Amino acid sequence: KTIFILNGPNLNLLGKRQPEIYGSDTLDDVRRLCAAAAEPHGLSVDLRQSNHEGGIVDFIHEAREAAVGIVINPGAYTHTSVAILDALHTFEGPVIEVHISNVHKRESFRHHSYVSLRADAVIAGCGIQGYIFGVERIARLLA
Ligand code: DQA
Repeated sequence: KTIFILNGPNLNLLGKRQPEIYGSDTLDDVRRLCAAAAEPHGLSVDLRQSNHEGGIVDFIHEAREAAVGIVINPGAYTHTSVAILDALHTFEGPVIEVHISNVHKRESFRHHSYVSLRADAVIAGCGIQGYIFGVERIARLLA
């Protein structure tokens, strides 16, 4: 059983991109930590990233068959994408929305999330540890 860990635009640059906001760990570190968190629950993870809105939509469609849950950091598409929200509505398992930074402490355009209308939980401001919380929450919801 696999959890998809989906990441939106600019998160390929995690570790290099505004490290004062997003930290110095990379998306590879996120993959390793999530795999380690999932393993004791008999789960595996498949981490993906796309800079394109349609790429994220395609990953979510794939998840319909291939994943038992989704942890998603949609990046800036969080605040703009009805298409990603609609795609998530076609997925039946648990969906956890993660933001590395505390979006509520930042510019007001980051305060609204389309994805939150579907997410079972939202984690913001915990750094990359938020992804681990997301994996653990999905394991709990599936148990
Ligand atoms: C982010 C917050 C978004 O507002 C921003 O556009 C990102 C990353 C976060 O993880 O804190 O790209 O989702």
